[in-house]
Amino acid sequence: MEIKLLSGALGAEVTGIDLKDTSDENFKKINDLLLEHKVIFFRNQPITNEEQIALGEKFGPIETHAYVKGLDKHPEIVRIIKGEEEKNQWGENWHSDVSYNEKPTKAVILKSLKIPPVGGDTCFSNMELAWDTLDEKIKEKIKDKKAVHSSLGAEFFVDDYKHMEVNKKRNYDAYSNEHPIVRTHPETGKKILFVNWTYTKKIIGLDKEESDEILNKIFEHQARLELTCRFTWTENTVCIWDNRSVIHFAIADFYPGRGLGYKRIMDRIAIEGDIPI
Ligand SMILES: [Fe+2]
Repeated sequence: MEIKLLSGALGAEVTGIDLKDTSDENFKKINDLLLEHKVIFFRNQPITNEEQIALGEKFGPIETHAYVKGLDKHPEIVRIIKGEEEKNQWGENWHSDVSYNEKPTKAVILKSLKIPPVGGDTCFSNMELAWDTLDEKIKEKIKDKKAVHSSLGAEFFVDDYKHMEVNKKRNYDAYSNEHPIVRTHPETGKKILFVNWTYTKKIIGLDKEESDEILNKIFEHQARLELTCRFTWTENTVCIWDNRSVIHFAIADFYPGRGLGYKRIMDRIAIEGDIPI
């Protein structure tokens, strides 16, 4: 096994592990790597839908997405499609997936099927480091507080992506839940800063103005480049991220003469998380 670190903050590209091998022994290796590096990448792993699901099931029960429709044959797989003509892609801006759910996703397994020659990298930011390096005064202010996470109609953003569909669960109420701002990782016991720019709307117990001010400072801090890594995809790459301890950002840099004019397709599987504490 070989491990190439992606940055000083987090992320690793791993070679010498076969993702089709779902033995307990191999899974332990994968999970240990995930906990250590928080996001791990495996190039040249042309696994099938069934194999992707089998790998996902080793982590725990697979969840169906809150509002995006899955594949007909495999409803637990969401196909993320950016058409040739589209300039945007699903997953732009910093977020952790479905943090507005009562039990936000534990981990995501993403497999690349089609990748433009340039553009569409994904960035990740380490929320354990973000907590460790956060301004002490802000830490003191928020350490025992909760925040509201809400999709606020995010399901309708799917309408912006021509080739994606919402599932039957679509409704006009936003999904909304309160979570501790600092959560404890259930497997490592580490403290994690658990808010994000896309879904976290308000700190409970502060007035709107103060809440906005603190959240904006936190969002700026979370996006500091020294907390991040950036990955350039190739086809048949499998990425696994720990959705509890990272936020991510799918960069939509598809411009004429460069990445625009190409399809980008990913298959996504998510594993059910627990209630953040
Ligand atoms: Fe995402």
